[in-house]
Amino acid sequence: MIRNEKDPDRLQESVSLKIPKKQGENAIQVLTKLKLLNRKLAPQMIDDTLHVPLSREPQPEERKQLDRALGKQSLSHEKFLSRSETVGSLQQVLAQKLPSSIIQLVSKSFDIIGDIAIIELSPTAEPYEESIAEALMKLHKNVKTVYSKAGPITDNLRLRPLHHLLGAERTETIHNELGCRFKIDVSRAFFSPRLSAEHKRVAEQVRPGECVVDMFAGVGPFSIMIAKRLNDVQVHAIDANPEAARLIGENAKMNKVQDRIKVWSGDARVVVQDNLSGIATRVIMNHPSQAREFLEPAYKALRRDGGIVHYYTFAEGLDSESNARKELAAALDNSGWKIEKTIETHKVRGVAPMKWQVAVDAKLTSS
Ligand SMILES: C[S@@+](CC[C@H](N)C(=O)[O-])C[C@H]1O[C@@H](n2cnc3c(N)ncnc32)[C@H](O)[C@@H]1O
Repeated sequence: MIRNEKDPDRLQESVSLKIPKKQGENAIQVLTKLKLLNRKLAPQMIDDTLHVPLSREPQPEERKQLDRALGKQSLSHEKFLSRSETVGSLQQVLAQKLPSSIIQLVSKSFDIIGDIAIIELSPTAEPYEESIAEALMKLHKNVKTVYSKAGPITDNLRLRPLHHLLGAERTETIHNELGCRFKIDVSRAFFSPRLSAEHKRVAEQVRPGECVVDMFAGVGPFSIMIAKRLNDVQVHAIDANPEAARLIGENAKMNKVQDRIKVWSGDARVVVQDNLSGIATRVIMNHPSQAREFLEPAYKALRRDGGIVHYYTFAEGLDSESNARKELAAALDNSGWKIEKTIETHKVRGVAPMKWQVAVDAKLTSS
């Protein structure tokens, strides 16, 4: 049932999941994970309900997983607009303005953080940057400012130089991620909306009573999501970037979890050595380019009877996941600690052709 459609030939029938608007982001993630989302059709907002087209009828086990993740939901059959008939992509909007040779060069990949969009442009597309930024704002009405990436991300603090393209020249914004609100400064502290499923995945594993050390906390997405889910938890959020640490503090207050998050501004090695030895049930090490150099403070933070480490690294090729596990095991050689059990290994996101950020969740014990 589509209210605004003039040409019925452009409609396609599909199984449909109806969910409250506020659960939209969550539902899209769960459906993507279950490979149930029909990407050829456009979801519809009717009143306060989102109607999401599915690629097929869910199996009984998938129904249970959907119910667990989203609460009991109703399925029906409905008509949806084909995506090719919607405004669709940046490329489609640009087709009205730029030669097709340039459109092909415009990256499909851009991030939206709060009301700020950050796009990656190849040098050949740069002369058209303003038109591209205008198209982006036309396509995403909530975007008020557009930047392009102006260089590689730095090694330690993971900051990226930005070039202002359009809209108000400000870098602070408020970003919503799965029920948490984050104040973010896109030029002064690391944040990636591409990690939101990973933040949720880890947060859901934490149990009441745990003590978590988030060694590379950024603006606090893991820490805050964990503290928001559980009252009975203690989180230590560390970041070497003072601006990131300041924002964790603000974000903890904004999400009303400041009583269970302690913010530490400084090098994780020093903070753990001086303050957090032997206290953690779980350590999050989301600094993939350098995590292996920080294993010593990670296991030092764990309780003497062991605990869980969420280890992140970059790994390439067909064996990326087993290579990530081997890297973790090798980094523990001669440390007096070992992997008791690998709980899960998975690719978090692609960062280059055949190269991924990989997560290894492992239970470590002292040997
Ligand atoms: C990839 S970001 C991860 C941010 C956050 N966990 C997230 O998911 O958004 C890595 C973070 O580690 C911080 N960092 C780098 N070196 C550090 C160190 N020696 N001690 C503590 N934090 C560090 C950086 O400032 C950056 O915010």
